[in-house]
Amino acid sequence: MIRSVVKGVGGYLPEKVVTNDDLGKIIETNNEWIVQRTGIEQRHVAADDQSTSDLAVEAAKKALLNAGMDASDLDCVIVATTTPDLTFPATAASVQAKLGMRVGTIAFDVQAVCSGFLYALTVANSFIVSGQSKRVLVIGAEVMTRLLDWQDRTTCVLFGDGAGAIILEGETGQGTGADRGILSTHLHSDGANQSLLYTTGGAGTSGISGKISMQGREVFKHAVQRLAEVAEETLVANNIQKSDITWLVPHQANKRIIEATGEKLGLPSDRVILTVAKHANTSAASVPLALAHGVENNLFKPGDLLLLEAMGAGLTWGAALLRW
Ligand code: ACO
Repeated sequence: MIRSVVKGVGGYLPEKVVTNDDLGKIIETNNEWIVQRTGIEQRHVAADDQSTSDLAVEAAKKALLNAGMDASDLDCVIVATTTPDLTFPATAASVQAKLGMRVGTIAFDVQAVCSGFLYALTVANSFIVSGQSKRVLVIGAEVMTRLLDWQDRTTCVLFGDGAGAIILEGETGQGTGADRGILSTHLHSDGANQSLLYTTGGAGTSGISGKISMQGREVFKHAVQRLAEVAEETLVANNIQKSDITWLVPHQANKRIIEATGEKLGLPSDRVILTVAKHANTSAASVPLALAHGVENNLFKPGDLLLLEAMGAGLTWGAALLRW
């Protein structure tokens, strides 16, 4: 059986940093409130001349370096983003060109907001397992700050810009849980609850992208419940126990959501990747940025079992089980 094995990981955060104290100078908020409710200390903001594809390319270059590969080795690039450079073509097409991937390779975007990376990872895994592609670059990249109303303190303190990338390659496994690579993926959506978190416009309605609107407390409740459910679903599907998980690599939206999920899995805090303090919620970029943090700090060892999970607008949520 073919398994999708992670060959390289890279993350990129733009240079400009905006701290909670900086925000406290423009709106009625303060560092204590933001840290206590969310765990966020600062966020990175893309420069005016940086687009989502620019951030994606920086992360992709690091992933290629980490994999010891060249852009010409890739057959496919999938970008998960809710902030595409343009309404069309896909941001992945720009990434393909900027990276210098071969003409004729596959390039397209996936849109599932904060769960986007897990959706893109699932598509990439299907391409590899079915033999469609051998090496797939999967990127989560966002300039979420361009969707913010900087006068709305209930949303503008929560988000930041960034990109994370991984390279998957097909390898023959035994078809058991001992194989390296992606062991299972689990995706869900609930469009009936989209009014909890959305943008106030779009290409197909107002013609402009709009700003983020969110019922934070309701989203929080859904996140804690759905993430616990999908973690349990993953355990059952793989016939494993909570104690078999080595690392939780969660979407970085809110420290309290992450801690609640870690506690439900019985994982000590030093087995939960927590990076939300330094870059806030980067939507689809946050899971690959968390993976990049683990790789840069040499945390993951061969054989470790990683549970990736995310929840976001849609509503959408999902998980992936991965043996390092
Ligand atoms: N600074 C100071 N006070 C604030 C701020 C702020 N930035 N924002 C809101 N407040 C005030 C509110 O006005 C309210 O005041 P009131 O009691 O006088 O009415 C009070 O703080 C409490 O507001 P709540 O919204 O009830 O605060 P809560 O504890 O729920 O925290 C938060 C809000 C942080 C948004 C939380 O609900 C959350 O993180 N939800 C998840 C949202 C999320 O992460 N969405 C991203 C995408 S989905 C995902 O990734 C899971």
